[in-house]
Order: sequence, then C-alpha cells, then structure tokens
Amino acid sequence: MGLTDEKKSAYRHTTKEELDRWIREAKMNAEFPQHRAHGMYGDPRLDKINREKKKMKKEFLDLGRQPIANKFLKEEEFSDEFFYDLKVVFDEDTKLVSLKDFVKPELMFNENYAYNTSMSTPMVNHFKSTAEMLMEEFRPVNVMEIGSNDGPFIRNFDPTTAVCVEPCGNFAKVTEGMGYQTYSEFWTTELSEKIKNDGHVDFDLIYAANCICHIQDLDDCFSAVANLLSDKGVFVFEDPSLLRMLERGSYDQIYDEHAHVFSVTALDNLLKKNGLIIFDVDNLSVHGGSNRIYVKKPNIASDNTLRPSIFENLKEEKSFGIDNFKTYEIFAERVKKSKDDLVELLVKLKDDGKRIMSIGATSKSTTVFNYCGISTDLIELITDTTKDKQGLVAPGSHIPVVDRESVNLNDYDYAFLGAWNFKEVIADKEREFVENGGKFITHVPEVMVFS
Ligand code: TMP
Repeated sequence: MGLTDEKKSAYRHTTKEELDRWIREAKMNAEFPQHRAHGMYGDPRLDKINREKKKMKKEFLDLGRQPIANKFLKEEEFSDEFFYDLKVVFDEDTKLVSLKDFVKPELMFNENYAYNTSMSTPMVNHFKSTAEMLMEEFRPVNVMEIGSNDGPFIRNFDPTTAVCVEPCGNFAKVTEGMGYQTYSEFWTTELSEKIKNDGHVDFDLIYAANCICHIQDLDDCFSAVANLLSDKGVFVFEDPSLLRMLERGSYDQIYDEHAHVFSVTALDNLLKKNGLIIFDVDNLSVHGGSNRIYVKKPNIASDNTLRPSIFENLKEEKSFGIDNFKTYEIFAERVKKSKDDLVELLVKLKDDGKRIMSIGATSKSTTVFNYCGISTDLIELITDTTKDKQGLVAPGSHIPVVDRESVNLNDYDYAFLGAWNFKEVIADKEREFVENGGKFITHVPEVMVFS
C-alpha cells in the first residue's frame, strides 16, 4: 500500500529529535513489553522506579502472562486486552516483596474500576466497626481517607472535616455526592502539597484500606503522609499480610494492583526511612488475613507509645523466615504444586462428566485462572454479587460472570471458591447446594474439595 499524502509529508518532515525519541521509545518498549499492547511508553516516574527496583531484587515467582485483574470485559474488547508478565521479587535490602514490573496505574484505577466495596456487606460492616473503633480510640477531628472507594469508611465521619482521595472517577463522584471534598487523583507528595495549599490543616487521622499496597513508589507515598499528618496524628492502614499469604499458600494475593505484599518487617524498615514509626499492629481476618498498621511521627510527645504487638509481629515474621530468600523459593515450589493439583482435579472432574462453576469474580481468581490456564472448558461460569461485573467476562479466562440469582446452583456439581476469603459466608448462603450433593473446591491452603 502506498503512502498517503499526509504520511508522505510527515515522513519528509521527520526531525532528528523525533527520530531520537522513537528510538528511545522502541528501546523502552523492548525493556518493558507490557507497555506495547497500548502503544504506551511508561511514564518517566514508573520507569525510574522500575530501573531502581531491578538493582537488588531477587525474583522468586513467575505467574505468567496476566491481564488487568479487575478489568472485566465485553467480547468486542477481547482483541485489545492488555497482558503483562506477573513476576515477583524480594528486596534483600528492605525485605519488601513486590512485583518485578509495575503496571501503569491508570490502566488499573480509572472511572471503570469494578470493585465496589459497598456491595459487599461483610466489608461494609468491617469499615463501620473500624471507623467506630478509631473514633473512640483517637478522637480525630480532621480525617482523610486515601483510596476511599464508594465511601463505606468515610461515611462514618462528618463531611465538613473529612477529605477523600480516590483516583477512580466513578467512586470519587459517589463520595462527592455524599458531601465529602474528594480529590480524584493518585496519592503523591505533589497531591499532598496541593491539599495543603487548599488550606486544609494537618490531619489527626489518615486512613487507607487495601490501597497503600497499590502504591508503587512507597517512599513518595509515606513522605506525602508525613507531610499532612498532624504532630499527634495517626496514620492507620490495612493491607493483606505477607505472612498469612506465605502460610496459606494464597498466591492469588499477587496481581497487578498489589504492587507489594507487605510484611510488618518491610513496613518497619520503609516507614522509618520516611520519618514515621509503627506503634501498633492488629492482625485481621479480612481479605484472607490482613494487618492493620498504626503509624505516628517519632519523638513527639503523644499517648501512643509502642505497643507489644509490633515486637510480637516482627518476632513471628522472623521465626517464619520472612527475611530469608529461601522462604520465598519454598513458597514458589508450593505455588507450582497448587497449580498442578488444581488443574489435575478440574480435568478429572470434567472427564467424569461433572459440571463446575465458580463463586466470586475476584481479582484473586484472575491470577489463579490465568496462571493455571483455566477457562470455560473447565469452569462454565462465575456468579458475583457486583452489578458492574455481571454480563461481562472475567479477564483473560473469558469465563462469563452472571448474577447469582440467574443460576440454579443445583445444576452444578462443584463450585470453585474464587472468593475463598468469604468461605464461611458463602457456605452458609449456599446450604441448599450442599444439601443437594453440591461440593466446594478451594485451593487455599491447598487444593481440596469440601462440603
Ligand atoms: P474480594 O475477595 O476482593 O473482597 O471480592 C469478593 C468478590 O466476591 C466481590 O466481587 C463480591 C463477590 N461475592 C459474591 O459474589 N458472593 C458472596 O457471597 C460474597 C461474600 C462475595
């Protein structure tokens, strides 16, 4: 095909600067192939982090090509689906476990983000009781939530003294509608300056749930927190626990959004580096085992002296070997076995003529299905209570996601628990399925069938 006039003229006017830029971009593409699918060349901030990360990180796990874990899609979007290599590294210096290459945040967190916390009753209850506990304990006046989603935590605070930060536009609109000033941006030191310049006084409570582990540049994140925390303020955040993941073999905690899986050990190192210290830790059962970390500024007169929990957690992690690379090599072996066992079980059940579906179209199950190569040949459909996921297909595996109400579970012999962290809630709801001979399959802590 000949060149159009427009292209010919563009060709004639190519400058040396443009040529240099294209060569630079091509090289960058070769180094970070995940940017290729969308013709994107990573933003300079991301490239800098990726380069620095590579210096001293030891890779221990390769979960293969993965799509955006929470990007449920329509058939017409299949050809444009974005995939990247999901590999995991251990930093010998800080003991932090992170993804080898980060995915550009805007690809994951945007106005189409499908995880709507308020749709999950157990999580709404969790955030209500957390808010009540924090109000009782710290009596904060000015409150900020980073990653406020559709507001299940912040709704417990007065909109005149509480501020939200939420990069996903769909959720930012919800909290704005509830009367909370909402910054629809990523959490950075730049944003913290902007909030300051907008005249907000320092915050007594900065809270974040399942959000800090999404933030790729943790030094920037923590210094932004220090920038806006009042002298007596507390920064409280909760994220999945690395120790619980290692104990339970729940490798599906690893996906694009989870740039890091935190140990108390690594957080202790990173926070200290950024002028903050941990003074308390709660071990929680949510999300398959999380830690709630309480942080303050050091050397400042306050009632929050260091509590025994921090030393207990550090000791428990040390005795598990969380600071030792060998621990991660052993974990990787366990993950490979989990995959073999799950695929073997599902193939055998299918060969025996059984019908299998899945409950909970989770980000976690995106990792499992894509790592294990599971598609509609093994699992026919997934039910999920989240309206935004229904009628779409799951990322990568393209298994249809439907409303629970539209499925007669008695038509199926087995239900895989994509939301294994809600095992008890689901088993309780689906008693009739079990009474009719139905069985559940889970891969945590190891592949098994139960009823
Ligand atoms: P999460 O594990 O990331 O919290 O996601 C849980 C998903 O599972 C969420 O999309 C809602 C869905 N879910 C169900 O479909 N049925 C249930 O009974 C529960 C508790 C969750």
